[in-house]
Amino acid sequence: MKNLKYYLDKAYKEGWAIGQFNFSDWSQVRGIVQAAQNMKSPIILGTSEGEAKFVGLQEAVAMRDALRKKTGVPIFLNLDHGKSVDYLKEAVAAGYDMIHFDGSKLPLDENIKKSVEVVAFGKWKGIVVEGEVGRFGTDASKLYTEKFQIKEEDLTKVDEAKEYLKKAHIDVMAVSIGTFHGIDASGVSPHLKLDRLKDLKENVGIAMVLHGGSGTPEEDIKEGIKLGIVKININTETRLAYTKTLRNTLDANKDQITPYKYLQNSINEVQKVIEEKIKLFGSEGKA
Ligand code: 13P
Repeated sequence: MKNLKYYLDKAYKEGWAIGQFNFSDWSQVRGIVQAAQNMKSPIILGTSEGEAKFVGLQEAVAMRDALRKKTGVPIFLNLDHGKSVDYLKEAVAAGYDMIHFDGSKLPLDENIKKSVEVVAFGKWKGIVVEGEVGRFGTDASKLYTEKFQIKEEDLTKVDEAKEYLKKAHIDVMAVSIGTFHGIDASGVSPHLKLDRLKDLKENVGIAMVLHGGSGTPEEDIKEGIKLGIVKININTETRLAYTKTLRNTLDANKDQITPYKYLQNSINEVQKVIEEKIKLFGSEGKA
């Protein structure tokens, strides 16, 4: 099986993007992988530090391995928003394909210093490293009751991204261009700052990652991919589909106590969300 770097390079050259779909349990993974298998799409399974601690690093790797073997689909695993360098090292040792170092809350020079360290051990193991410049803020475990607007000062600045990349030789860069983690109550997040993205593409010239993909208008996603986005992270939309369906299923079947029966609707709804995203990102048939 080709590695993740191969697919990210291919996506960059051909103008499509790979979805990273976060999970915190096996039934979500089933919905995600069934979609990838149906659509013959490469995918990245993502775990934040919190999700990874709940699932277990070794357990996540074992799920990836078992499902790769069973389906033949290129399924990769990323440690998303790792803030602790030691924990990222543990993920690499466990067998993750990719690590994302999130030093976005640090002053730029410290972010660079730690990123250089992460790149050194990541590259040594031959895995993909994602860095981050700019800030997303917010928290994907909530719904926002008001329209959320990201602050201008939190957007990725071209000169900072350039300076970062000169020293930290990451493979892909997470950029803040108007998205945030989570989704607001209207269900539709603000538009991407496509001018900033164009500036970054022209002046920094690295493949980029869109975080906070849930709720982003579809046209913006398509334009973003044309402007160098190769990976798009989705969590809240999957969590919502899974949790809302579970609530409805249990409310409608008060005497149901059998998880493999009451979880099936949630798995199906997750699968539907992921299939839509794969179509939108253009990764269908690329496995
Ligand atoms: P959403 O929860 O907004 O989809 O963001 C997910 C994400 O960016 C994970 O890193």
